[in-house]
Amino acid sequence: VSHLLGIKHLNIEDINLIFNTADHFKEVINRPIKKVPSLRDITIANLFFENSTRTKLSFELAEKRLSADIINFSAGQSSVKKGESLIDTANNILSMKVDIIVMRHPNEGAGDFLSKHVDAKIVNAGDGAHEHPTQALLDSYSIRERLGGVQGKKVVIIGDILHSRVALSNIYALLLQGAEVKLCGPTTLIPKHITKLGVSYEKDLRKALEWCDVANVLRVQHERMDVKYFPSIREYTQLFGINKELLDSIDKEIVIMHPGPINRGVELTSDVADSKQSIILNQVENGVAIRMAVIYLLAQQIRRD
Ligand code: CP
Repeated sequence: VSHLLGIKHLNIEDINLIFNTADHFKEVINRPIKKVPSLRDITIANLFFENSTRTKLSFELAEKRLSADIINFSAGQSSVKKGESLIDTANNILSMKVDIIVMRHPNEGAGDFLSKHVDAKIVNAGDGAHEHPTQALLDSYSIRERLGGVQGKKVVIIGDILHSRVALSNIYALLLQGAEVKLCGPTTLIPKHITKLGVSYEKDLRKALEWCDVANVLRVQHERMDVKYFPSIREYTQLFGINKELLDSIDKEIVIMHPGPINRGVELTSDVADSKQSIILNQVENGVAIRMAVIYLLAQQIRRD
C-alpha cells in the first residue's frame, strides 16, 4: 500500500509487518536515547483540521524519534479560515518539499481524496466517522501485548458506534486477525451497515461483558449527539456505563480499553478507567511505536519509488 488511508486497504501481512516494525521501535523508545537517525531525509507535515491530543502529539513524537523534519498545521490558525481549499493548502505545503502528509479531517474520505490530487504519501489520522487506522493498529497491538495475540479473542466494542471512526477501523483490523467482534450500545447508535461486516450485536451490557475477553469502550460524542439517538446521558450511563461493581461481578478478568478522551462517570467510572484491568495508557504508549512503524515503512517506499 502506498498510503495509509484505512485498515480496509490492508491485509494480514501488512498488519504483521507494522507490528514487527513497531516491536523494534518500542525497544528503541525505551532506551536512554530514544531516537534513531532513520528519517533524516524525510519531511512530514501534520495537518489537523479537527482537535486532537493523543494522535497529534504521538505522530509528532514518532516523527521526531525517527529524526524526520516536521511542520505542524492547525486549520484554526491557518488560511483555511480565509477560504483556501484543501488541495491548495496541501499543494502549497508540498511545494516546501514535504514527503508525507498526516491528516485529520472532519469529512469522510478526505485522505482518500487528497491522495488522488497531490504528490505525497498520505496517512489518515481520522476522517469524520469513517476510519482511524493508526488507532485500530495500536489497539490490536495493545491486545496482542496484554493477551499474547489477537486471533480467537472475543472483543466487544461498546457505545457510540454511529459517530465513531475508531469502531470501523477496529472491526476491520480485529476480523482480519481472526478475533470475534460484538457490538453493544443503544440500537440508535449502531448503524445497520456495520452489522453486515461480520460482527454480532448484544444489547445487554452484562451479557456482552460475560462473553468478552476485551471491552473497547468508546467515548459518547456529546458534540454530535441529538435527542433522537437516546433520551439522556444519565440513561446511557445506567444502561451502558461500566462501573467497578459491575466489572467485579463478572467472573473473569476483562481487559478494558478506551481510545480517549474519556468522559469519566459516563462510559467508564474512574475506578475502572484507572484499574489494573485497564490498558488505556498502554494504548497511548504503543501509539508512538505504531506511528513510528507506519511512517518508517512509508518512507522506505518513498526511497524505492
Ligand atoms: N484517540 C484519539 O484519536 O484521541 P485524540 O482525538 O485526542 O487524538
